[in-house]
Amino acid sequence: MNKRQANKMALPVGAGMDMAAAAVWSTIAVLLTTAMMVVQIMVKRNDGVAAAKPSLPPVVSITSLIIPVITRGPRAVVDELYRKLGSVFTISFLGMKKMTFLIGPEVLRDFYTRPDTEVHHDAVYQMTVPIFGKGVMYDVDINTRAEQIAFCVEALRPTKLRSNAVTMVRETQVRETMFNDCVRTFHELMDNSMHVISACFPNLPTPRHRRRNMASARLKKLFARAIELRRASGRAEDDVLQRFLESKYRDGRPMSDNEITGMLIALVVGGQHTSYSSLTWTGAFLLTSPKHMPAVVDEQKRLIARHGAEHIDYAVLTEMETLHYCIKETLRMHPPVPMVFRTVRKGFALRTKEGKEYEVPAGHSITCYTGFNHRLSHVYRDPDEYDPERFGPERKEDKAAGKFSFTAFGGGRHACAGEAYGYLQMKAIWSHLLRNFDLELVSPFPEAELNSMTPGPKGKVMVAYKRRKLTAST
Ligand code: HEM
Repeated sequence: MNKRQANKMALPVGAGMDMAAAAVWSTIAVLLTTAMMVVQIMVKRNDGVAAAKPSLPPVVSITSLIIPVITRGPRAVVDELYRKLGSVFTISFLGMKKMTFLIGPEVLRDFYTRPDTEVHHDAVYQMTVPIFGKGVMYDVDINTRAEQIAFCVEALRPTKLRSNAVTMVRETQVRETMFNDCVRTFHELMDNSMHVISACFPNLPTPRHRRRNMASARLKKLFARAIELRRASGRAEDDVLQRFLESKYRDGRPMSDNEITGMLIALVVGGQHTSYSSLTWTGAFLLTSPKHMPAVVDEQKRLIARHGAEHIDYAVLTEMETLHYCIKETLRMHPPVPMVFRTVRKGFALRTKEGKEYEVPAGHSITCYTGFNHRLSHVYRDPDEYDPERFGPERKEDKAAGKFSFTAFGGGRHACAGEAYGYLQMKAIWSHLLRNFDLELVSPFPEAELNSMTPGPKGKVMVAYKRRKLTAST
């Protein structure tokens, strides 16, 4: 008998079912309980010394959370659950899906370090298939994906970024005239992709999804043309495209053009929106900070004095430590990927921050809520304050409470392949702005978007600017 039938039959008991039927059900219940006890005793005997299995994490039903999430926001609701239930708890979606939250660096090791065969990317990443196209990343098996990601990691290795840094600076300077079609199509793709509805139903035939599919196909065409031109030129450039063209799978097969265009879209999507949102937040913080704005400008003056106003390369960008911490603090307060997910294939036990042992079973989704973890007061001092110095050598707050205290770029096995690239790009753009413009924030300090998988600042962030050349002494 299935559960639904059992429930249907159990209902009349409370409504006054006759004694005979109640006796039958009591007998069945006693028999079942006895049978389970016998099985348990036998299992214990077989095991010799049977260890008690840890219990499952406490469960709360999504139905009790819907209204609080709408009225008070997800962060306030998770905060309440964390205080009440501790650092590991499960939200049940009507019993059909169980999502276990792992709060804080103390309980994130399994999430980030278990192999893909035990803990794998959740179905939510299926939303990227219509964006990147078929045959790449979350549309392929684990082994092929691992090789494709290895190509990215190799193409974006910091030592290889030295040449890219010069291109970034040049691009920052002439951005207005470059890649117009690409940029327009890319914005069309992003504007129609990263919504909560797309995460739940990526293939729902909505006008937005139609626009997304058209933009993805157009971008693939543009990248395919770039491949064609590169081949026709006979030149081997020192860039990501070239490294993809030269990549080979373990069986010796080169990446197909379809895979290369898909991976290029994946990199642009993974890197552009995240950086763009962080750049805007960084601007909002700097332009409203009487302490940190002068600090980053002074750093640029020192670098101009040391290297000259026109010279910005990989080495100079890596010297921008103050700007680096300001961007990192922005990423702590507003991580562009605020939540990441996995599905458990092989259950595991963990110890919570409070010292309890739980079993996280196969089938559960697990979540790292970076947007919440980055505001934990036992990890970060005054977590709601914009305080870039917390990352400096005296405080190192991103390390003090454990390895997974700062997860804006993920961590462990699937840590962001583009972290170094992202920082270089953001520093190239902000140092260019600081050196060439007087800026003033003329709109109110922005709020965070809610209905987005990669929430940026809500609405327009307006800045008034006046051109000026920063020198070592002005
Ligand atoms: C501010 C900038 C960026 C942020 C905040 C960011 C954030 C992240 C996060 C949180 C993950 C892990 C997702 C997970 O665990 O499920 C990730 C993965 C990834 N990111 Fe980034 N990213 C940024 C820039 C970039 C750039 C510039 C590139 C490439 C040009 C890039 C390429 C990738 C790739 C390929 C992965 C997948 C790694 C894997 O699954 O093994 N990201 N990123």
